[in-house]
Amino acid sequence: MSLAKGLFVTFEGGEGAGKSTQLRLLADSLRSLGHEVLTTREPGGSVGAEAVRHVLLSGAAEAFGVRMEAILFAAARSDHVEEVIRPALSRGTIVLCDRFMDSSRVYQGITGNLEPAFVETLERVAINGVVPDRTVIFDLPATIGLDRAQRRAGDDSPDRFEKEELETHEKRREAFLDIAKADPNRCRIVDATQSAEAIAAEILGLLENLLANAEMSEPTSTGSAP
Ligand SMILES: Nc1ncnc2c1ncn2[C@@H]1O[C@H](COP(=O)(O)OP(=O)(O)OP(=O)(O)O)[C@@H](O)[C@H]1O
Ligand SMILES: [Mg+2]
Repeated sequence: MSLAKGLFVTFEGGEGAGKSTQLRLLADSLRSLGHEVLTTREPGGSVGAEAVRHVLLSGAAEAFGVRMEAILFAAARSDHVEEVIRPALSRGTIVLCDRFMDSSRVYQGITGNLEPAFVETLERVAINGVVPDRTVIFDLPATIGLDRAQRRAGDDSPDRFEKEELETHEKRREAFLDIAKADPNRCRIVDATQSAEAIAAEILGLLENLLANAEMSEPTSTGSAP
C-alpha cells in the first residue's frame, strides 16, 4: 500500500541510543501492516553519498577542518535527497532515515562549533524543502550510549570513558533535546533507556496520526480525475 504523498521519518540521537535497532523494527512492523517502506541512512543512502560517506568516515576529511566536513555532509545529503528520498516520497513510500539534518546541526553546528548561519545555509541547500514529517529523538545518558556502542563493537573493557568524551556526548544530548523543544510539531523525544520492545511500540504510536492522515488523503480508485 502506498500513500498519497509518502511519509518521511528520521531517527536522531547520540551513539548507541538504539536508532538502527528501532529503524529495523519499525520497518518490519510497517511492512507487516502492508506499507511500502524504504530504509536508508546518513551519511550515504545514494551512490554519490556513499562515496562521500567513505571519505567522511575514514577520517580523510578531518584534516581539512569542520567546514570542509560540513560541506561534504551537505553534498552527500543533497544527492541522497534528490536521488533517493524525494523520488520515494513522491511514489508514496514511507522513508525511514537513520540520522539526517539534525545530526549535522548537532555534530557540526554545536560540538563542531560552526557558526549557525553557515550550518543553516548548508541545511537549506542540502534538504531543498524535504523536511521530515516526524523526527524521533532518542534520549539516553551518554554513559549508557557509549557503553552500548562499545559492547556492540565487541569491546568488553570496563566502562571508563574520558571525561571530555562524556561531556561532548552530554552536550550533544542537550542539543538534540533543544531541537525537539524548538520544533514540537516535527520532533518527538523517546526515552531510550526502555526495552527495545517498549520503544518500538511507542514509536509506532507516534506515527499513528500521520499514517491515518496520509491514508485518508490517498486517492481512491473510483476517483473521477483521469
Ligand atoms: N532498548 C535497548 N536496550 C538495550 N540495548 C539496546 C537497546 N536498543 C539497542 N540496544 C543495543 O545497543 C547497541 C546500539 O544500538 P544501535 O546500533 O541500534 O544504536 P544506534 O543509535 O544506531 O548507534 P550509532 O549512532 O552508533 O549507529 C546495540 O548493540 C543494540 O543491540
Ligand atoms: Mg546506528
